Amino acid sequence: RQYDALQEKDCSSITPPYSKLLDTLDKVREVLPRNSKLTLAEKILYAHLRNPEECLAGSKGLADVRGQRYLKLRPDRVAMQDASAQMALLQFMTCGLPTCAVPTSIHCDHLIRAETGAEADLTRSINQNKEVFDFLESASQKYGIEFWRPGSGIIHSIVLENYSAPGLLMLGTDSHTPNASGLGGLAIGVGGADAVDAMADIPWSLKAPQVLGVKLTGQLSGWATPKDLILHLAGKLTVRGGTGRIIEYFGPGVENQSCTGLATIANMGAEVGATTSAFPYTASMKSYLEATGRAPVARAADYAAAQGYLAADEGAEYDQVIEINLSELEPHLNGPFTPDLATPLSKFKDFVKENGWKDDLTSALIGSCTNSSYEDMTRVASIAEQAKAAGLQSKVPFLVTPGSELIRATIERDGLQETLEGVGATVLANACGPCIGQWNRNEKLGEENAILTSFNRNFKARNDGNLKTMNFLTSPEIVTAMSFAGNLSFNPMTDSLDTPNGPFKFSPPSGQRVPDKGFTPGDLSFSPSPNPAPVPETEIAISPDSQRLEILEPFGSAFSNGQRELPKMKCLMRVRGKCTTDHISAAGPWLKFKGHLSNISENTLITAVNDEGGEVNVAFDAEGKDTIPNIMKRQKAAGQPWMLVVDQNYGEGSAREHAALQPRFYGGAMIVARSFARIHETNLKKQGILPLWFANEADYSKISAMDDVETVGLANILKGDLNAQVTLRVTKSSGETVEIPTKHTLSSDQVDWIASGSALNSIRAKFAN
Ligand code: F3S
Repeated sequence: RQYDALQEKDCSSITPPYSKLLDTLDKVREVLPRNSKLTLAEKILYAHLRNPEECLAGSKGLADVRGQRYLKLRPDRVAMQDASAQMALLQFMTCGLPTCAVPTSIHCDHLIRAETGAEADLTRSINQNKEVFDFLESASQKYGIEFWRPGSGIIHSIVLENYSAPGLLMLGTDSHTPNASGLGGLAIGVGGADAVDAMADIPWSLKAPQVLGVKLTGQLSGWATPKDLILHLAGKLTVRGGTGRIIEYFGPGVENQSCTGLATIANMGAEVGATTSAFPYTASMKSYLEATGRAPVARAADYAAAQGYLAADEGAEYDQVIEINLSELEPHLNGPFTPDLATPLSKFKDFVKENGWKDDLTSALIGSCTNSSYEDMTRVASIAEQAKAAGLQSKVPFLVTPGSELIRATIERDGLQETLEGVGATVLANACGPCIGQWNRNEKLGEENAILTSFNRNFKARNDGNLKTMNFLTSPEIVTAMSFAGNLSFNPMTDSLDTPNGPFKFSPPSGQRVPDKGFTPGDLSFSPSPNPAPVPETEIAISPDSQRLEILEPFGSAFSNGQRELPKMKCLMRVRGKCTTDHISAAGPWLKFKGHLSNISENTLITAVNDEGGEVNVAFDAEGKDTIPNIMKRQKAAGQPWMLVVDQNYGEGSAREHAALQPRFYGGAMIVARSFARIHETNLKKQGILPLWFANEADYSKISAMDDVETVGLANILKGDLNAQVTLRVTKSSGETVEIPTKHTLSSDQVDWIASGSALNSIRAKFAN
């Protein structure tokens, strides 16, 4: 097989408009108090402000902006994956615009199901999802969107290899969009309706985040990897620690990291709820840009860096600083069931024993958008080579997911794929596969078992639909080494394995950041032409009797006839404990209905726990007990608006906007939480659901199923008084009334969304005028 070298690309549509950004930043400095010292995150965000004077006027300093003001931004680019793009496009179509206002790309990755291996899986998945891919391709053609067809790779890997750039601000309809920040920009995960803002040239609004500084000193060595840094940090910060914040890394330890290693760190910033992560421009970013055919972007970035754009101001102030000495970092394994349960490798054996888990590894999975860089693959290949020389084979199914065709073709050319297959690995398609539950796992159905993955997320049932599968997140190096032991108690840094030639101990892995021979693009037909012109006459492919795609009908507003409070609602249930977007709108088999709101809504909250009774997928109404979706449907059919009471960090996890669309579709009008995850809270507002926070968290238990709930004071907010608060008047079945104070985070634009019934209604009204 011939391997083409990667050619230098046309970089005109992917180079950030640095001169314009620098001009905006100059204006920002004129508006802010003199001598304000900006963090890098603030520089990039503020350089993308549409109107710095309006956004920052009168601020007494940065502390007066962070967490206080809404920034109205103009992102440079949008990327969408095949599952979330369906609804984003269906929403964009309702705006009636001829093209996208910013370069946009679509990536077919989530719908590819892993079963036997790359080729067969890809062919089967394309056949099974043909109508969805046809829809996405036709809409891409109509609106001038770059379409990356199935098999081309995972959204975040492709974005890092092709679109991301230092100082860029981009949005992606996937929660791991921050992966692209590994190249020195800011990439933020949003719901489809936010992406539609950028695509329609509507100001994209973000509450100015706080900035958490992470100072890196020392140097990684041996088995420790960038993945271990973020696993360790997740343990410190917990899944809520990054909420409302950008994590900005600085210090000498940043310079030593590979660009793809920084991407891994940024990728999993999503696991602590961070808006995104920021890194100053480094030499490894420059080499990565050059190695991926983007030398012109690197030259432009050199210029921007010389103007001071791509690093924080000297003396920049952070809201909090955490210091990590990389020289002291050891490999970590996080889980099960939550990414913040961090255990250092040296304590993992005891951890498994203390919990009484079977010391048995059942599958080892590496790759995905989180960890399939050339560096990752060369390091795992160095482990596989050692094992092969010692006569070892992987003791468990060992699955490898390359992030992109670029990576797949390059590891094939360089013999790494052969090395991995030589110890028993199966290379899957360049797609999400088992990371998102697209894994036809035939063994261990319903059984308690443990898997190790180099992925980023490990909520229950995420990978194989089995609630009892314990997924421990770790580096690809540790996954690979432990696959040869087949158990959880093996520590590859200290323990030996028995071989026919006596005990064998691994040496620390070694690898290479970018290939000596350069990357090869592989199958060139996977790469779309850059910035294609829209073809307005293209007919968008949606069959009227499709079970996968459904034209979206706008939601109505609850505030007709001058009404300024929400109509009286029934409390549908009190959701107990962790409720991620996976709980609200499950993935796995449901992914196929992403473009069909009526069908996918059948999964609403089916894994949520009802605090009254502790049962899963159970709620009650006047007719009695039923599944949660059935109760919601009954309320909708009766024209009865309803609300939910939810716990801490409601909606954490992915940017899945279906988690907001579905309750809205069934007539949900309000959700009151102990706290919300940022993206999900915004998604609720976009769909016209009012999110409120309990002023006192203990009030959570004061509202019960089928209580009548009314808002008091919402009218003042709708009139423009953002300082006003809403009190909930709750009437119990006994007739007793309770008043519960709440807080809100609505901006004036968001008030408009709630009043109009959805952000799209409000956009449409603006275009109509
Ligand atoms: Fe796909 Fe998993 Fe990444 S679902 S985008 S590989 S987090």
